[in-house]
Amino acid sequence: MTVNELKTKIVEEAKRRDTIILAHTYQNPDIIDIASVTGDSFFLSQKAKELKGKRVIMCGVRFMAESVKILSPETEVILPVPSATCLMAEQISPERVRQFKSENPDTAVVAYINTTAALKAECDVCVTSSSALKIVKALPNKNILFIPDKNLGSYVKKQLPEKNIILWDGFCPVHDKLTKEDIINLKNEHPDAVFAVHPESPEEVLEYADMIGATSEIIKYAKSHNGKVIIGTERGVVDYLSTHEENGDRFIQLSREKLVCEDMKITTLEDVYKAVIGEQGESIELDENLRQKALKSIEKMLELG
Ligand code: 13P
Ligand code: SF4
Repeated sequence: MTVNELKTKIVEEAKRRDTIILAHTYQNPDIIDIASVTGDSFFLSQKAKELKGKRVIMCGVRFMAESVKILSPETEVILPVPSATCLMAEQISPERVRQFKSENPDTAVVAYINTTAALKAECDVCVTSSSALKIVKALPNKNILFIPDKNLGSYVKKQLPEKNIILWDGFCPVHDKLTKEDIINLKNEHPDAVFAVHPESPEEVLEYADMIGATSEIIKYAKSHNGKVIIGTERGVVDYLSTHEENGDRFIQLSREKLVCEDMKITTLEDVYKAVIGEQGESIELDENLRQKALKSIEKMLELG
């Protein structure tokens, strides 16, 4: 079977089985092509809720499939490749957070939405990279523990000197590899380009940014800018923009070698096909009590953000 034949078969089978295929923008371009909806992690989980499908295939990593399940408990949510996990999302254990909370009862625990359901259940509020600043500012607590990403946490901390923000030593192993030399060299090559970057990147890189935001915000910004844009996030974003937008060569990838997330790229078209026809994948199950607690942290985020 050719790749195009396989793509057609996936779409047909998904339709026949009332199945929605969601794909994070970091997925392989072939998977982006057959997805019903693409976007960033929180957008996809909200979309799944809206679409009210009976069955969702979540092409991404485990925490993304869990987020869909938290918001849509009646939906069957399938992660096509169960080993697709996010190293950042799992860098702190729920037990460690519980211990911290019992030792520091006046400290609010703020979790980046890119964490496991078990961590969302332990925190006081979740934040996306775009709402983090507003939400931390709105919290009544002066003392904040920010988990798990130290880079997003330090970006927030720098702008809120009135808060005492404790950072967890977690990070995204993909974005954290970037250095200021990567951006300086590329800016020298393209002095007319603006630079948009994900806040999971180190502070020394964020300092050169014209725009800092989550995947969807980077895409929006890049589309609306007429000239060249250097993009500092997983290379799926530039792959997407360069094939879906006019003058695609104006999107310039920062360090294509570093900015590839193996966990996001592990899922293949064959995996998706097998998941659609029910021969592969894990159906995500969450303990109802844990799901309710995780949902509360997300609802608080929506209320404050
Ligand atoms: P977004 O929430 O921006 O989609 O982030 C996903 C991710 O994995 C970032 O590295
Ligand atoms: Fe996790 Fe980083 Fe991969 Fe995103 S890019 S899924 S944060 S490891």
